[in-house]
Amino acid sequence: MSGRLSAAPPPSVRVRAPGKVNLALRVGPVGSDGYHPLATIFQAVTLFEEVTATLAPPGAGISLTVSGPQADDVPTDETNLAWRAAALLADRTGLAADVALHITKGVPVAGGMAGGSADAAAALLACDTLWEAGVPRSELVEIAAELGADVPFSLLGHTAVGTGRGDLLTPAMTRGEFHWCFGTQRVGLSTPSVFRRFDELAGPSTPAVAPADDTELMHALRAGDPVALGKALHNDLQAPALDLRPELAEVLDVATESGALGVIVSGSGPTVAALGRSRQHALALGAAWTAADVVDAVWCASGPAPGTQIVTSITR
Ligand code: C5P
Repeated sequence: MSGRLSAAPPPSVRVRAPGKVNLALRVGPVGSDGYHPLATIFQAVTLFEEVTATLAPPGAGISLTVSGPQADDVPTDETNLAWRAAALLADRTGLAADVALHITKGVPVAGGMAGGSADAAAALLACDTLWEAGVPRSELVEIAAELGADVPFSLLGHTAVGTGRGDLLTPAMTRGEFHWCFGTQRVGLSTPSVFRRFDELAGPSTPAVAPADDTELMHALRAGDPVALGKALHNDLQAPALDLRPELAEVLDVATESGALGVIVSGSGPTVAALGRSRQHALALGAAWTAADVVDAVWCASGPAPGTQIVTSITR
């Protein structure tokens, strides 16, 4: 037996970040910056992206690998939001961007559940910890908002009201656990194209948005009442998503016929979210979709889920 000690593993940080469903998504008229003002209520759900950041040798730069469901559909270059998150954090802190990132997918890809945004949120926290950058939380949130409108919510998690581009967040009080089933499609929908179709369908008369429109939904959350929540679900992007993908109507119908408390297109789609009476009922909704052959995969989860957090950390 050799008396040599084995080399210490390189510093490495593993972080997980949740996907989300928009319980309400109200969209206002497009602004001169190309973004639409939103009044939305996000709920994080127990589908998680995991990002492992491992220290790379000086000068190595950023590298990225991806595993898990639909990994082949995810870019592994500088267009990936996790890569951009690491690069932006290095830029802001003046630190060297030497890191090997690995993403384990757990949120449907291009499905309107902010899986890419979760990767960015997880990469930010992982690199901040790995590089011992010590960026204050408020600054991490600002960097997150630069990366994408849904990234700050993935950092925060739980349930929150979003205004502005969806990036100005106020935590919302909720009671209990809500049981969801998500039906996904192999081919995603691009968020900008759904917003564009919204503009085409709504025309110039789109009214301004106000979170006050969702008081019933907020009551349902505070009461932990899934029946009232199911009735109050609302998504202004549902009509444009259905217009681009008419076959989604059948996904909505099957869940409704199976007694879902509410059914909605998730964010910009094409994922459809169905709210069950219980965990078992959510599983039954997924089984109904599978039997009707209207979705490519089903993912059952509950909400609210915590925001981005460190799972393990091996530092120097
Ligand atoms: O911020 P993010 O990169 O996730 O947004 C992707 C695209 O979705 C934007 O470029 C824009 O076309 C559209 N979008 C929008 N209004 C929002 C959020 C996103 O029009 N509030």
